[in-house]
Amino acid sequence: MNRRYRKTIIAGNWKMNKTLTETKAFAEELKPMLGKPKWCDVVLCVPAVNLQAAIRLFKDSRVSIGAETCHYESSGAYTGEIAPEMLKDLGVKYVIIGHSERRQYYNETDVTVNKKVKAALEAGLRPIVCVGESLEQRDMGVTLEFITYQVKCALAGVGADKMRHVVFAYEPIWAIGTGRTATAEQAAEVCETIRTVIRKLYGARVARTVTIQYGGSMNPKNAAELLSQPDIDGGLIGGASLKPEQFVEIVNAANQD
Ligand code: 13P
Repeated sequence: MNRRYRKTIIAGNWKMNKTLTETKAFAEELKPMLGKPKWCDVVLCVPAVNLQAAIRLFKDSRVSIGAETCHYESSGAYTGEIAPEMLKDLGVKYVIIGHSERRQYYNETDVTVNKKVKAALEAGLRPIVCVGESLEQRDMGVTLEFITYQVKCALAGVGADKMRHVVFAYEPIWAIGTGRTATAEQAAEVCETIRTVIRKLYGARVARTVTIQYGGSMNPKNAAELLSQPDIDGGLIGGASLKPEQFVEIVNAANQD
């Protein structure tokens, strides 16, 4: 973390979990435990059907609400899809773009990720752009090249003035939902590479303002060590964000004085 130049952001990604009833119960449990963290922003990215309720439930708290994906067009014949403008109008602040599960199961490509990043920014949302290598790519020694490629694709045509709204999440695919975490050194190396790519594209002043998260089995036990790395400015948390007490512990690790 480097709080001098950029915000630390702890974000939950609920994926396809929690009904409306469970969302209400979670909010009631989380809010008194969370209090008002001073040093980090807290975000919950929830299933689309629960967005409106989540916004209402967390209105009087420090928690911002995010969506888990969006379309790149602002309206049209795209049955089942949700436009960034619809999210913005509800009061949604963040949207996850290019999560590896979307890339793997729903044909998300570097091209659609780029279109979605631009559309989200245009609508006034903050994209949380996910990048990450497979185990095969790590074993072949091409991780940094692959991440560089993904980051460049995601940012093609994004103006420097928009960059302070962009968040990156480094999520090694082999660490998602597996209980296997990247070591702090592995995560730091990739997050530093992401910042270097941004620096080359936009200059040092822009690069130091961008929040870069780590995601992949982040939990209350490993959060503090990962967050102690200078280029890791938060977490994108799956499983542990479904349990209020675990999520709060991770927020607390990011919120140390
Ligand atoms: P887990 O924390 O369950 O590994 O999920 C990480 C993730 O995919 C967050 O987007």
